[in-house]
Amino acid sequence: MGATIEAIADLLQRQGAKQYGNEAVSQLDHALQCAHLAEAAGETVETIVAALLHDLGHLLRADAEPAEPGQKQRDDLHQFIALPFLRPLFSDAVLEPIRLHVDAKRHLCRTDASYLAQLSPASIRSLELQGGVFSAQQAIEFMNHPHAATALRLRRYDDRAKTPGTPTPPLAHYVALMHQVASKVHKSEIAGKSLQSAHTN
Ligand SMILES: [Fe+2]
Repeated sequence: MGATIEAIADLLQRQGAKQYGNEAVSQLDHALQCAHLAEAAGETVETIVAALLHDLGHLLRADAEPAEPGQKQRDDLHQFIALPFLRPLFSDAVLEPIRLHVDAKRHLCRTDASYLAQLSPASIRSLELQGGVFSAQQAIEFMNHPHAATALRLRRYDDRAKTPGTPTPPLAHYVALMHQVASKVHKSEIAGKSLQSAHTN
């Protein structure tokens, strides 16, 4: 199950018009605002793309199955759903902050009392479904991950990317960045293959 960048853009356009949880912005607005905050903070192109796509799992799920009663009573594991879809296109620098962005919330709730205090009731409910606040040991294990710090920054952009009417660049701007990142992966694969054949020749 692999994606093309055109399919990702199409999904963001079609399913992105839906409301982002209980927030006053659409899924597409949320994605664009998150990417824009990452870009304004001077993040790498990979992190900007991760910010754009961090909730793509919600959209893939919405595409695959209509909402069912009681769906909010369980964790939708959206941080994992998009990974097989995105893996043929992007490196771990994009995939890992996406995979870790829910754990980043669990970590921030442990390490930053003000972060926990400002969570909305809906966010506290989803925190419980996602496994709750990290234990001390879980927090240590999380920070040992090479992409943990990026995931924590992404989480802060995620939390701020909910302001109705915030101007952002259009989706086309981020489609170009996705192509830039994907072509880097493609070039390193080609370089890897030619290195391999040089060794075997
Ligand atoms: Fe989000």
